[in-house]
Amino acid sequence: MRGIKILGAGMYLPETVASNDWFSTILDTNDEWIYSRTGIRERRISESKPNWHMACEASREAIKNSGIDPSEIDLVLAATCSPDYFYPALSCIVQQQTGCVNAAAFDINSACTGFINALDTASRFLLDGDYRNILIVASERLAPHCDYTDRTASILFGDGAGAAVVTKNDKPMYSYLSAKGDFFNALYCKVDQSRLNCPLLKPDTMPEGLIDTEAKTHFMQMNGKAVYKFAVDAMETAVNKVLERSGLNKGDIDLYIPHQANARIIESAVKGLELPTEKVYVNLENHGNTSSACIPTCLAELSADGKIKDGMTICLVGFGAGLTSGAIIFTQ
Ligand code: COA
Repeated sequence: MRGIKILGAGMYLPETVASNDWFSTILDTNDEWIYSRTGIRERRISESKPNWHMACEASREAIKNSGIDPSEIDLVLAATCSPDYFYPALSCIVQQQTGCVNAAAFDINSACTGFINALDTASRFLLDGDYRNILIVASERLAPHCDYTDRTASILFGDGAGAAVVTKNDKPMYSYLSAKGDFFNALYCKVDQSRLNCPLLKPDTMPEGLIDTEAKTHFMQMNGKAVYKFAVDAMETAVNKVLERSGLNKGDIDLYIPHQANARIIESAVKGLELPTEKVYVNLENHGNTSSACIPTCLAELSADGKIKDGMTICLVGFGAGLTSGAIIFTQ
């Protein structure tokens, strides 16, 4: 039987705050519009610290809080869609920097659903007993991906990292993972190939449906309305599917932690699912959407406040580029 227990969680947010008022100095926007449409007041931007630095800071805190030695970690899983390097994997840098000398390491990229997919993967690695402790770190430096002339998308995102050390638990865990590649063009960011120098290379072919908008596709391209609609449906479906798999009722869940994309998306899904709002954790007002890092930063904040208790049943639900989505129910 699969089951996971969080031994320790950690997070890192860069110092620089980008408030809605700051956005109104660079774009035709204002606090009232942004807050009423998204629930976001401010987000952090990592001005000069790379993604790996944030990932390591969050990981160190998670390992410290877990009470185990880094050498006891058997696997480092990093979720990111904004790595500093194509290779090595972010997880390898984290492994080296945090002293997880005995750990294997690989990355998972499913954008904002990254932590859900990584936690699901971790639970399967823990099953056979070869892997006892797994560090999952989700870290995103999205500022370099965002187009700060695009007022629709850039205002949504922030930088940050969250991490958790997990081990096997004898209490059951259930998951539901999904991908709808039909909507891959709703949210994408192309690898920048503007500096290639092989004389044989020609402009590459993009999959049908992706548009090279004035060669700005190396910035995030988002169809906000399509993503919004998908997100509400995907969250409701994922929660219903995982509840069905678990045989639990909505009321059996002590805490819901949704991906923190937009307060209106969360509110719509919570209303559709008829969940009690006091059981739904939301922290996006001061963080913005930190993609895969949203859910583990919620876990880290809640853990620091002593709100993740043994025996609690927690439901995590996320969605993101792909378009991907998923939900997990586990008992701590
Ligand atoms: N400030 C002021 N006006 C803005 C604005 C901003 N930051 N961004 C867009 N607008 C304008 C638009 O230009 C449009 O003006 P128009 O009516 O004159 O054309 C108007 O506001 C309405 O735009 P619209 O796109 O309909 O807004 P919306 O209510 O759909 O909200 C999003 C836009 C992006 C906030 C919303 O669609 C959303 O949250 N989508 C999901 C995105 C997401 O979560 N992505 C990450 C997934 S992991």
